[in-house]
Amino acid sequence: MMQKQRYYVTTPIYYVNDVPHIGHAYTTLAADVLARFMRLDGREVFFLTGTDEHGQKVEKAAAARGLEPKPFTDEVSANFRELAEAMGFSNDDFIRTTEPRHYRACEELWRRIHAAGDLYLGDYGGWYAVRDEAFYRESETVVGEDGIRRGPSGAPVDWVKEPSWFFRLSAWQDRLLAFYEANPDFIAPESRRNEVLSFVRSGLEDLSVSRTSFGWGVPVPDSPGHVMYVWLDALTNYVTATGWPNTHAERAGFWPADLHLVGKDILRFHAVYWPAFLMSAGLEPPKRVFAHGWWTVEGQKMSKSLGNVVDPYAVIGEFGRDAFRFFLLREIHFGADGDFSRRGMLRRLNVDLANEFGNLAQRTLGFVARNCGGVLPAPAALSDDDKALLDSAAALLPTLRAEIGRQAFHSGLEAVWSVIRDANAYVDREAPWTLRKTNPERMGTVLWTLAELLRRLGILLQPVMPDAMATLLDQLGVSDRSFAALEAPMPGGVALPAPSPIFRKVDDEAGKGV
Ligand code: MSP
Repeated sequence: MMQKQRYYVTTPIYYVNDVPHIGHAYTTLAADVLARFMRLDGREVFFLTGTDEHGQKVEKAAAARGLEPKPFTDEVSANFRELAEAMGFSNDDFIRTTEPRHYRACEELWRRIHAAGDLYLGDYGGWYAVRDEAFYRESETVVGEDGIRRGPSGAPVDWVKEPSWFFRLSAWQDRLLAFYEANPDFIAPESRRNEVLSFVRSGLEDLSVSRTSFGWGVPVPDSPGHVMYVWLDALTNYVTATGWPNTHAERAGFWPADLHLVGKDILRFHAVYWPAFLMSAGLEPPKRVFAHGWWTVEGQKMSKSLGNVVDPYAVIGEFGRDAFRFFLLREIHFGADGDFSRRGMLRRLNVDLANEFGNLAQRTLGFVARNCGGVLPAPAALSDDDKALLDSAAALLPTLRAEIGRQAFHSGLEAVWSVIRDANAYVDREAPWTLRKTNPERMGTVLWTLAELLRRLGILLQPVMPDAMATLLDQLGVSDRSFAALEAPMPGGVALPAPSPIFRKVDDEAGKGV
């Protein structure tokens, strides 16, 4: 049998000091949609997510709860697994950086980088933001009116002075620039790529990659007192999960990853440090890193102190998880910042989903149930109008392959909705309720055309709204739901189960919980 083409997509691994919020749900959702899309398109997929459990930030959070780090991380890591379930994520693995398999990979990566001559022992003196787990140049920090010095993200920085191992990042500047040049799609979107290029062109300093002032991390091999810098440890998760360094592991063939999805705040780590670490260790860099934007809430930055952190469970409870999934990807261009608002969520559910899409399904299937004894008629010869509609639906698969392939979820969904709107206009124009009296055969063809269109939409939209599309495809009596099933039309003359609405509208005034 021919080997299926592989596809490996990752999310950042989440710091366990926080409860999961909409920002975490967002990155993993995008990865889930890609994974589901590629599986339906016949690829062998590996979709990875997990938790980032070491470092000073997590150690502090554990201490604040009066716990040792390990029991603390065991407890809070579970919150992220639960979120994955609640959102319907189809990840193939969930990695925790406290697992033995991860320690092995970190140690091996360290040894290889050391053997390559890219590590040396020295003293670090500089600014460190625990919240970002990041070192900043003095020029990147500012002292605020409150006298507190902060890094570019707004996180307070402390002066750190301690013995440390350094990675010779400065020696990688030219090789990184050559790599970006040879791989123009490595960093997306374009604007972010330009930011990274100018950062690297401005000159790279050697990077402190071990810490000695605390102990919650992966021990540096043969260097007592040192634990690995949490970002070196965290980034390595992406190779750990392939079974590396065991080249016979089941997932060994998945490296290099096809795509790392990350938020814009952590692009530098993925697009600069990570490829340098990998190349130094003799491993291939990932094929692409896409940085998405940040969500604000009702126009404001989301923060614990403002008390406006969007709880994904509350949104799922009120609107349903498929509507939430749809909203997150449809509302804004993937890559841009966006605003989460109740009004926006209501509009996407009530207008796009219930009025436009749900209604199309309801009109078609309800009509078959009421007027055709629940049997979908077989089509007679198709008219130009029928063919035009079905041709536009057939064109959606190549369009989605292209749009989803470049992570333009929003444009892909827009293309699908343009067909949905055309289909509603087609129903009005063809008026099957009139045809029922004047030309029943033609009515049957119109209904079949609509059912065939709905089947196509149902199959194609499964990655975004798996539950609602499963219901729709059940109501259409469709069993083969892969993209390959789009190559042949559906049969007519078949009895269909009783229809029911696929989306439930939410009243504007109801529940203000979100
Ligand atoms: N642990 C690191 C990642 C290590 S990957 C090797 C980390 N964790 S995090 O939990 O702080 O953030 C994880 C992701 O959530 C980041 O990609 C970040 O951009 C994303 N988001 C956090 N808040 C967000 C919003 N308000 N909006 C969108 N995404 C946001 O960084």
